[in-house]
Amino acid sequence: MKQVFFSFFLFLIINTAIAQEYKVYKAPTFREEWSKPSYHPDRVIINFGADPATEANVTWRTDTTIIKAFAEIAVADGAPKFWRYGKTIQAKTELFDGLKIKDAKVKAHYHSVRFTDLKPDTMYGYRVGDGESWSEWIQFTTASRDKDKPFAFLYVGDTQNYILELWARLIREGYRKAPDAKFIIHAGDLVNVAHREQDWHEWFTAGGFIHSMVPSVVTPGNHEYRNIPEVDGEDADRRLSVQWRPQFTLPENGPKGLGLEETVYYMDYQDARIISLNSNVSQKEQIPWLEKVLSENTKKWTIVTYHHPMFSASEGRENEELRKLWKPIFDKYKVDLALQGHDHSYARGRVSPEDNVMDGANARDKTGTVYVVSVSGGKMYGLRKKGWDDYEADRDRAAENTQLFQVIRIEGDTLSFESYTAIGELYDAFNLVNNDNGINDFIERKSEAGAERRFSNTISYEDPLPGNLKAVLLSKYPGSEITRVNASKTDEGLLVFSVRLEKDGERTMVNIDEKGIILE
Ligand SMILES: [Fe+2]
Ligand SMILES: [Fe+2]
Repeated sequence: MKQVFFSFFLFLIINTAIAQEYKVYKAPTFREEWSKPSYHPDRVIINFGADPATEANVTWRTDTTIIKAFAEIAVADGAPKFWRYGKTIQAKTELFDGLKIKDAKVKAHYHSVRFTDLKPDTMYGYRVGDGESWSEWIQFTTASRDKDKPFAFLYVGDTQNYILELWARLIREGYRKAPDAKFIIHAGDLVNVAHREQDWHEWFTAGGFIHSMVPSVVTPGNHEYRNIPEVDGEDADRRLSVQWRPQFTLPENGPKGLGLEETVYYMDYQDARIISLNSNVSQKEQIPWLEKVLSENTKKWTIVTYHHPMFSASEGRENEELRKLWKPIFDKYKVDLALQGHDHSYARGRVSPEDNVMDGANARDKTGTVYVVSVSGGKMYGLRKKGWDDYEADRDRAAENTQLFQVIRIEGDTLSFESYTAIGELYDAFNLVNNDNGINDFIERKSEAGAERRFSNTISYEDPLPGNLKAVLLSKYPGSEITRVNASKTDEGLLVFSVRLEKDGERTMVNIDEKGIILE
């Protein structure tokens, strides 16, 4: 008995010690070999073609020993040998030579197959391989020809940082919340360093089989653009991630001759036109194509995705030029929903459909385009203090310091938008009801969700600075504000805080150890 009591006592002491330990973030390391291809297919990803009822594309990667590759596809069935009625299609194989690129340092083969003439509203099974080594059979469903058939899709903002560490849980929770999602919209900044193999490998690993089952609709962010001085020279322009075009097989119905292939395109999913724009380059040059795609659009719902938001969510950010160029077109053609990223926070709001419709402050109202900024990875910025007051727009809901995914459901005249945290809690919701005149009714549903989330009422994003150290710093730098803290541990286990102080717009970086000694 004494023994048991003593053990229990020890357990308590240890647990109390663990609870009090100051946790320091240390990024996991990945060895270079980790992201290298092999003979076996990896990074299998599915995208829809322009007509998701009949077209889907699959892309995968191997090492360069695999020179001939295939995809097999069959209508799926509960019987295991459903493949008997399938067909085998030879892949287009292209060499990816990143050996001269510092961040890539790899040679690989990318293989792709465009599945065409598929049956609408049908579940297919496919697999990819070289005839000997094969992936598992993977299932996806084509869109229906019944334009009124209800469907759902997911939308995520910047994946970008802590991708494998923290985006994995987010996208898996998204898949759990909406297992019937027909596709996933990624609004740019999928990775942090455009050409970096490890970043892309994290992205593919985090999403795992979801990438091969649920078609991705991807649009590039500024982090998908980076120069390659070691190849193009010091003054070289930024260019699209060298992995982008090999690894995605997207509709090629965008503007021609602008170098925007597979970044600007559209697809018609039942009664919704989904348009990807490239907010990074040639913003003006995309306009004639956009006007054509919008003016010819006969679909009930128009959803546009691109990276840089029309109305900034976070402090110190602005895309005025883009707003001047694109917003009048969105207004003219009554775009319903704009799905954006870039600001590493959450903001959702809307503009007036025309000057005199927005009377009355009812929960039910009329609305023009609804704009959303969201973030799905682990990097977080603070919200603009003024909201959207400077813009002719209302910001209705916002969040800081919260990883979110969105589930959008379309059922006839109603579009339901729901935003969920990484643990699957409803954070925001509204409905749009489509009217024949193209102006939507707006139904606010945010009251279904919990309290507003901010840095001030959520688990600290910055490393907490112990009060005694704060006092030491503020006595040495009176009138300063502490705006960033990063904790680390020395090899001897001593805590060191790297602190950013700001006063009158001047920033000072100071290192202070846990004993209060300011380090040089
Ligand atoms: Fe970003
Ligand atoms: Fe960005």
